[in-house]
Amino acid sequence: MVQIKTYTVAERRQTNRLKVQLLRKTVRLLGILLKKMAILGKTCMVFLLGMILICAVMYYISSEYHITKKYSLLEQAKENTNSKDDGVDGIEKGVVGNQKLNETFNDRKKLLETVCDEIYNGHRPSIKSLKFPNIIVNDKLKILYCKVPKVACSNWLRLLYIADAKLSNITPSDKIIETIHIIEEGLRTKYFPTLDMYSNQDKQYRIRNYLKFTFVRDPFERIFSAYLNKFVKTPDMHFRKDFGVEMYRLINEDVPPDDFKTGDNITFRQFIKTLVHPRIGRPFNEHWQQYAELCHPCSIKYDIIGKYETMDTDVLYTLNKMGLDGNMSSFLGQRYKHSNTKELLPKAYKTVPKDDLNKLKALYGADFRLFGYNSSSL
Ligand SMILES: *[C@@H]1O[C@H](CO)[C@@H](O)[C@H](O)[C@H]1NC(C)=O
Ligand SMILES: *[C@@H]1O[C@H](CO)[C@@H](O)[C@H](O)[C@H]1NC(C)=O
Ligand SMILES: *[C@@H]1O[C@H](CO)[C@@H](O)[C@H](O)[C@H]1NC(C)=O
Ligand SMILES: *[C@@H]1O[C@H](CO)[C@@H](O)[C@H](O)[C@H]1NC(C)=O
Repeated sequence: MVQIKTYTVAERRQTNRLKVQLLRKTVRLLGILLKKMAILGKTCMVFLLGMILICAVMYYISSEYHITKKYSLLEQAKENTNSKDDGVDGIEKGVVGNQKLNETFNDRKKLLETVCDEIYNGHRPSIKSLKFPNIIVNDKLKILYCKVPKVACSNWLRLLYIADAKLSNITPSDKIIETIHIIEEGLRTKYFPTLDMYSNQDKQYRIRNYLKFTFVRDPFERIFSAYLNKFVKTPDMHFRKDFGVEMYRLINEDVPPDDFKTGDNITFRQFIKTLVHPRIGRPFNEHWQQYAELCHPCSIKYDIIGKYETMDTDVLYTLNKMGLDGNMSSFLGQRYKHSNTKELLPKAYKTVPKDDLNKLKALYGADFRLFGYNSSSL
């Protein structure tokens, strides 16, 4: 049997009183807790704000430091050369024949044609009137490759050399592979003849029938990369002596006498100041010469315009069109990846006065437009 307990009125009052007391106590405790939390919250807030402030100040100081410290750019660049990217791993083999990729390459050609029409207004320079010291011919592969320094060009030469050797059943020479960027004149003309070395008729035949390709990159990046490579990172004294001294002379600034003699320590700002100087010699050295001058893309219709920014897929696409196995891309090596220059680039360009920057944009204006790069990005 279940016993149902019944309460007297007094008992009920007693319980109610206890309940009220309990409620009051709870409310009081809650009040105290809230007060403590408010104090704690304030402390936390102050602490957080303090941390944010400290971070902001430290960030400011560090970025100021990089800009003002004279050679920090140089030091960073040196460090960055040592870091290697993961190279061509992770390439999707199925990338070739992909409709979208095909469209990308077609769009690049269309843009180029449109801009060529704008620039030349139907009067493009004829092949006969031009020089092609940068267009490499390979009769076995039936290709013309316009070699653009600072856009993986040594890597391409290496690949072409190996592919050619394979087709000839010759074992490629390790020495040539290793020193391809400084290959001596005699070997250069043997392994990498240029279009200039052919008669007019032979030139025309090759232009008509061979696969023509080149690789480009954002002109801002290429110019900066050329600067780092030739004036900062290089142990090659000749380059600085030949160009650095000349540049110092041209810009007419106070330069430490030692630097004036050796051509050392030229800054990016000074380099750009030289490039846009009205009395600089033309054409430019090939490392910073305009694509339009190096490759004449309005007179030679390139079948493939590869880009450094999408190197992995563009290389596979090109190899496929050349009739080579995609695994040949392993011979391009990992050396073409210097993506870390990307972080230094805006800092470097910030040191360039606006006036010079605008002149630079004009100087490379055709390159930006022909290949779809944005000169307003800096
Ligand atoms: C790629 O584009 C070319 C035109 O340039 C066209 O002839 C070809 O059929 C296209 N290939 C694919 C796979 O879409
Ligand atoms: C200038 O270049 C020389 C040689 O590379 C170097 O020894 C020297 O420290 C540089 N000067 C400055 C101010 O960095
Ligand atoms: C590429 O693949 C082919 C077979 O498809 C093979 O014979 C060749 O050795 C490979 N080359 C490299 C560099 O892996
Ligand atoms: C070029 O870059 C600027 C600055 O980043 C941007 O505002 C502009 O939309 C870009 N133009 C194109 C065509 O991408």
